[in-house]
Amino acid sequence: MSDTVMELLSTKQELQAALKEARAAGARIGLAPTMGALHAGHGALIAAARRACDFVVVTVFVNPTQFAAGEDLERYPRDLAGDADFVRAAGAQLLFAPSVEELYGTVTEPLSRTSLDVGELGRIWEGALRPTHFAGVALVVTKLLSLVRPDCAFFGEKDYQQLCVLRQLVHDLDVATEIVGVPTVREPDGLAYSSRNRYLDPDARAQAAVIPAALAAPQQAAASGERDARALEDAARRVLEGENAATGRGRFRIEIGYCALVDPDTLRPIAVLERPARLLISVTLAGVHLIDNAEIRPECDNSSDLCLHLPAERADGS
Ligand code: PAJ
Repeated sequence: MSDTVMELLSTKQELQAALKEARAAGARIGLAPTMGALHAGHGALIAAARRACDFVVVTVFVNPTQFAAGEDLERYPRDLAGDADFVRAAGAQLLFAPSVEELYGTVTEPLSRTSLDVGELGRIWEGALRPTHFAGVALVVTKLLSLVRPDCAFFGEKDYQQLCVLRQLVHDLDVATEIVGVPTVREPDGLAYSSRNRYLDPDARAQAAVIPAALAAPQQAAASGERDARALEDAARRVLEGENAATGRGRFRIEIGYCALVDPDTLRPIAVLERPARLLISVTLAGVHLIDNAEIRPECDNSSDLCLHLPAERADGS
């Protein structure tokens, strides 16, 4: 356990007083926003923030504006006491956990609230399935960046599209915070840590290992020389659909929301794998919405003749 003294604050006023002190002491401030139910993925964000900054602020706030009606806002896991222990042990200096009223005020009429248009980046893929989601993420993150004014803010690659939307947001709004992406932390069977994994019963949890298996398939195909993006996507889809073909008691159907090989910056579908791309996957398993992604590289198995046309580094340096 770390012996860092962590402050747990719930009002903007207290937060800003604490930050004023830290800033006066010349601290470099890092922010790791979360919705709580903290796990090792969040832990990696805090660890990265500690490495880069002197004063680390973690926020826990289940943001209502990023959930649509009928989504899991009410049942989203909440455990502030457990989260406070986690953040303390992880060595952050401050945990900010405001109420909805504290952060948004009492104007509850959505029509009178400022909303941010997140553009095409926020309308495709997850944005197409959850049309108001990224505007809500953009709003709450803008508020947290305005309140904390961190030097750096840390977000997981686990939510790759969210990371892209937020990079675009700080660019467009000239926010003086560096957005730092942190690699996805996975459980031993490869499933990415997620607060929503808590919704999975043991059978569904075991089945969820098909998601990292699906992410691995196109990388294997790419290593054997496959460059056609649709064929690479199909390699992933086949793994997911293969799971549906298997029979047995207590098995759930995996509904594919999308499975797309995209440009890592624009998130538009690519036709041919010529440089590292991202495979984005969204599935619903036993009623639980799960997303994951992986980088797919046009690397090849050196023994394969298919790869000879690639501009590989030459051993003789010529
Ligand atoms: P939440 O799902 O709690 O995630 C908080 C941060 O932790 C995000 O940046 C997310 O990408 C990162 N994260 C989650 N699981 C991870 C994993 N397995 N490995 C690495 N990083 C992981 O994302 C949100 O909350 C919200 O949308 C938020 C940005 C806080 C705005 O409300």
